[in-house]
Amino acid sequence: MNACFPYLNYKLQIANCKSKMTLRLAKIAIFLAALIPLARLVWKALHDGLGANPIEVITHSTGDWTLILILTTLSITPLRRITHQYWLIGVRRMIGLFAFFYGTLHFLTYIWLDKFFNVHDILQDVAKRRFITVGFSAFVLLISLALTSTKGWIRRLGGKNWQRLHRLIYLTGILAVVHYIWLVKADLRKPLEYAIALSILLTYRVGTWLTEKASEKRKQQAGQ
Ligand code: HEM
Repeated sequence: MNACFPYLNYKLQIANCKSKMTLRLAKIAIFLAALIPLARLVWKALHDGLGANPIEVITHSTGDWTLILILTTLSITPLRRITHQYWLIGVRRMIGLFAFFYGTLHFLTYIWLDKFFNVHDILQDVAKRRFITVGFSAFVLLISLALTSTKGWIRRLGGKNWQRLHRLIYLTGILAVVHYIWLVKADLRKPLEYAIALSILLTYRVGTWLTEKASEKRKQQAGQ
């Protein structure tokens, strides 16, 4: 007897076990891969490899990885739809939580290594420097998404409300890209690459939403 889903027929049991196995392996691989940027920073710090301005290197690396992981989280649904690999949904939460993890390291680098916990300085920056204001807003959204990412919160809010709340990840992505565009002084190439990636993901999302709405309307009209 197959131990994964004993109530399903044999072929479905094998399919489910295979996707459970794929999910488990994918989770391990993603967990290890997501720790590589942190391990590289720690390695460099221990071997004098962070250069003349270590705080800048740490801020930039953690900021980059937060943004990359937010965009990766956003690309999971389109990837799942295109490839029909349903296990992908099972790794979305983990990638989102890693985005939050690197966002926290990024924020900690700023308040600890850059500002030495000087609350007055930090609040002034948040109020006066527009790239900090939007970065901070993105981080606050990221905190709320991480806190409500549990099964308990899905149950408490109800599936539909929870989905609505978690669409805020798109706004988080937009604020994060604006944060990057506003902080760059000369070469806009890298932030614009992220902006293009985000625009593609947003366009896909709006496109599928419009298609779904149109097909719902057609079904309603056919039923009348
Ligand atoms: C979701 C939240 C955030 C994301 C995705 C993000 C992302 C980034 C990125 C991509 C960079 C540039 C990295 C590079 O040049 O390679 C950056 C730089 C920076 N971020 Fe953030 N950030 C976020 C939140 C914050 C917050 C909350 C603060 C502080 C309150 C902050 C402060 C900074 C600073 C000081 C820099 C360096 C600016 C410079 O070099 O002049 N960020 N961030």
